[in-house]
Amino acid sequence: MKNIQHESAKYQVSGEAIYIDDMLVSDRLLHAYIYTSPHAHAKILSFNLDKAKKVRGVHAVLSYKDIPGRNQMGPVFHDELVLAENIVECVGQAMFIIAAENQRAADEAMDFIEVEYEILKPVLTIKDAIENNSLLQPERKIEIGDINAGFASSTHILEGEFESGGQEHWYLETQICLTIPGEGNEIKAYCSTQHPSETQTIIAEVLGIGKHEVELECRRMGGAFGGKETQANHLAAWSSLLAVKTNRPVKLRLFRDIDQKITGKRHPYYYKYKVGFDDKGKIIAADIRHYLNGGYATDLTMAILERGMLHAENAYFIPNMKIVAKPMKTNLPSNVAFRGFGAPQGIFCIENIIDKIAFALKKDTVEVQKENFYGIDDKNMTPYQTKLNHNRLYVIYDQIIKSSNYVKRKLEIDKFNKENDFEKKGIALTPVKFGISFTTAFLNQAGALINVYNDGTILVNHGGTEMGQGLFTKIRTIAALEFGVSLSRIKINATNTSKVPNTSATAASSGTDLNGMAVKNGIGKLKKRLADFTADLLKNEHQMSSKPQDIVFESDLIYDKNYSQIKYKFEELIKKAYIAQISLSATGFYRTPDIHFDRAGGKGNPFHYYAFGMGVSEVSVDILTGSLTVLRTDILHDVGESVLPNIDIGQIEGAFVQGMGWVTGEEMKYDDKGNLLNYSPDTYKIPGVRDIPQDFRVKLLENYPNYNTIRRSKAVGEPPFMLGMSVWFAIKYALASVCNHTIQPNLTLPATNENILLAIDGLTK
Ligand code: MTE
Ligand code: HPA
Ligand code: MOS
Repeated sequence: MKNIQHESAKYQVSGEAIYIDDMLVSDRLLHAYIYTSPHAHAKILSFNLDKAKKVRGVHAVLSYKDIPGRNQMGPVFHDELVLAENIVECVGQAMFIIAAENQRAADEAMDFIEVEYEILKPVLTIKDAIENNSLLQPERKIEIGDINAGFASSTHILEGEFESGGQEHWYLETQICLTIPGEGNEIKAYCSTQHPSETQTIIAEVLGIGKHEVELECRRMGGAFGGKETQANHLAAWSSLLAVKTNRPVKLRLFRDIDQKITGKRHPYYYKYKVGFDDKGKIIAADIRHYLNGGYATDLTMAILERGMLHAENAYFIPNMKIVAKPMKTNLPSNVAFRGFGAPQGIFCIENIIDKIAFALKKDTVEVQKENFYGIDDKNMTPYQTKLNHNRLYVIYDQIIKSSNYVKRKLEIDKFNKENDFEKKGIALTPVKFGISFTTAFLNQAGALINVYNDGTILVNHGGTEMGQGLFTKIRTIAALEFGVSLSRIKINATNTSKVPNTSATAASSGTDLNGMAVKNGIGKLKKRLADFTADLLKNEHQMSSKPQDIVFESDLIYDKNYSQIKYKFEELIKKAYIAQISLSATGFYRTPDIHFDRAGGKGNPFHYYAFGMGVSEVSVDILTGSLTVLRTDILHDVGESVLPNIDIGQIEGAFVQGMGWVTGEEMKYDDKGNLLNYSPDTYKIPGVRDIPQDFRVKLLENYPNYNTIRRSKAVGEPPFMLGMSVWFAIKYALASVCNHTIQPNLTLPATNENILLAIDGLTK
């Protein structure tokens, strides 16, 4: 397929795209505000809302006592209250909600809310949590081989600990939900959510009504990145409570600063490791511990922890390996899904270990990486006891080492570093192997509803959501190809729970894989019906002995391939089918075959397939200021056979830059009372146009179609995020050159300018 434009692009560029905040509702619209906990950990001794309720322009002030259904919005584990009851467990936890005519009235009401607290001691860091044995859920373990025997037969052993930081999603459109009450119990909500069905569920449960009363719609999100996989539910619960109470439309939109303060982020990790290896750097045994900062509630922490464990070996065959992961509970907002979903953290750990092994053996890191890559036969068993098939690591490695001119550039960098004291350069390669499928197996399902109207236009409904990633554009392309019609016939409807029910989140990069297949399935049913009808028509109108299996759908025409002298125009045939009382609407469904995972045993086949990629980045670091320039990045990424190359390349570029942000400029700073200190763009630094690689070369791996997926493609949304780490390892290399590679820099993740300077300090003392 040749490139086509993102379906939202022209509306976004002209400003015509309608986001929820742009929707005109009525002059009865009320605005919602949240009163949140000022304390990280405190008992609520008493509260009084009477004065607040009397403020002019205020229509409702609600506490947990006003919830008609369940006071619960945890998606999997039910440990997250809609509104706090007796205790608050993080700064920013919702306590009361207000519906008001404007901000001024709401602010005044907030001032009149009276609460008495008994302050308790908060647990804020992972190390604090470990000391206090503060866990959200039990630890998990995956184990293969015998690590003790492995260590005994290793020539070298390394042990240590390090950390990786959090990350704010920084979607451009902050969290928002608009709820409109209808007659009886009916609720219609427009919500910026990756998971309309779950948002619908939470509204129904909180209001104590059936899901059939709740219709949830999402045209598109202004970015999500995992931040709207569960947290959109919270806004929906709060705005719906107020809408029902006031019987008026209620819009809840979080201001940027508030959004950043109260929503959860990427999980910070603390790692402990012990690794045994031979003289070549081949790992024989690894004992890995992941400790996650989960915040105060479980949310998706266990699924994130699991994906982190399932990526703890990244691209490497490690015969003896034990991975133990602990979900630590702290008094911070509950941390949530974020692009990569634990895999970046798991992969960073093993990549840093590989880098340390290379340093210890005075080898180039790429050699140690290659030495450890998964191979074939007895070198393809994962720690969770599935064989890695269709390994594309070697082909990508060979191509990118050549195309990036790695060997020559590294020599030039070493020479440059010898000749320059105040500017140092570094280069590094990061590989990724990313498992595609929800690790919660039943979530791997999708539905669609295809309506063909009797003018020959087609409306495609599917369960996926658009967040900028181009899902709708891909689905539209897939629908056109499957139906053999031009794109102009096809429109993708806003995602709506009354069109396609019981859907999974658009997450785990699987939006196109799952919904694309469901759409294909639905179109297949319609084509079958239309082929039967066409064969009959050819018999009746033209006395031809036509068979349904010979009917072709191509270029907006429908015909029998054996009688191509008679071709029906698509709209002509549709009209005839309608008159003949043939149903022109069909549902589609798909479930991913053959995946399963035994959590207790830590083994199984959790992924349908893997996506592979590699990135090589070269950086320059100013040793006096810590300032960073990314000079060049080469990426070679495997998307199977691309449905739309321009969309895929956009995803790779965006994911890389977001990954680069996580490992460089983005740092969360809290005070000792659990307040986030940098909650706006002036102090929280996401990558800008001047931070992206000056020379950015992204290529798709060619001639390696995928197996048993929609149009032989591979998922692309998350895997290239990991490649951003190549920037961090390149910085580490540049810094090591300050002391001629005699000391490993103690570089933290993120490598902010400040942290780079601190690492240099450590090298020169
Ligand atoms: N791209 C854009 N522009 N905006 C986003 O919010 N989210 C990412 C990725 N790419 C995101 C994005 C995340 S976290 C996931 S899981 C996938 O898109 C989800 O969409 P997909 O399954 O259709 O790839
Ligand atoms: N990714 C994103 N969301 C999820 C997953 C996953 O692997 N598993 C359950 N929810
Ligand atoms: Mo993406 S973190 O799976 O929403």
